[in-house]
Amino acid sequence: MILRFSQWKQQDYTARLATTPEALEAFLQPLSQAGVDVFHCSTRRFWEPEFEGASLNLAGWTKKLTGKPTITVGSVGLSGEFLASFKGESAQAAGIDDLLGRLDAGEFDLVAVGRALLVDPAWARKIRLGQLDELQPFKPEALATLS
Ligand SMILES: Cc1cc2nc3c(=O)[nH]c(=O)nc-3n(C[C@H](O)[C@H](O)[C@H](O)COP(=O)(O)O)c2cc1C
Repeated sequence: MILRFSQWKQQDYTARLATTPEALEAFLQPLSQAGVDVFHCSTRRFWEPEFEGASLNLAGWTKKLTGKPTITVGSVGLSGEFLASFKGESAQAAGIDDLLGRLDAGEFDLVAVGRALLVDPAWARKIRLGQLDELQPFKPEALATLS
């Protein structure tokens, strides 16, 4: 059983279920004990630390606190310089070196990709082959299409 929870809202980027590791643990423990197998941790930018004082993102904290596998998500494959695409702006394509470093470090176990794949169905193949120049930039019109 996979449970997805979110630490932001499109209408309010600062919306939080938990503002401290202690509050996050209090939220997660009953769910973990009830049998959740995997936590899918929604953040807007996977590379941002969830709490001050540690580089772990939300999926990293969730794995640390529950011991369960986690899925990270949030602007994978999109450039941090164009971050307003939730509000209708474009986003440049980007590589995934930071993501791979965090995966190798065991910070989280799985990665969900949304907009980068939506705009470029060949995203995974291009990433695997290192064809970063051929990645398509995200455009808001892509949200209205089925590739
Ligand atoms: C226009 C738009 C609005 C979104 N609103 C929310 C939201 O309010 N809360 C949330 O957790 N995720 C929200 N998401 C994130 C998606 O549910 C999904 O996790 C994300 O698009 C996949 O990651 P990526 O597109 O950043 O790769 C939104 C995404 C888009 C494109």
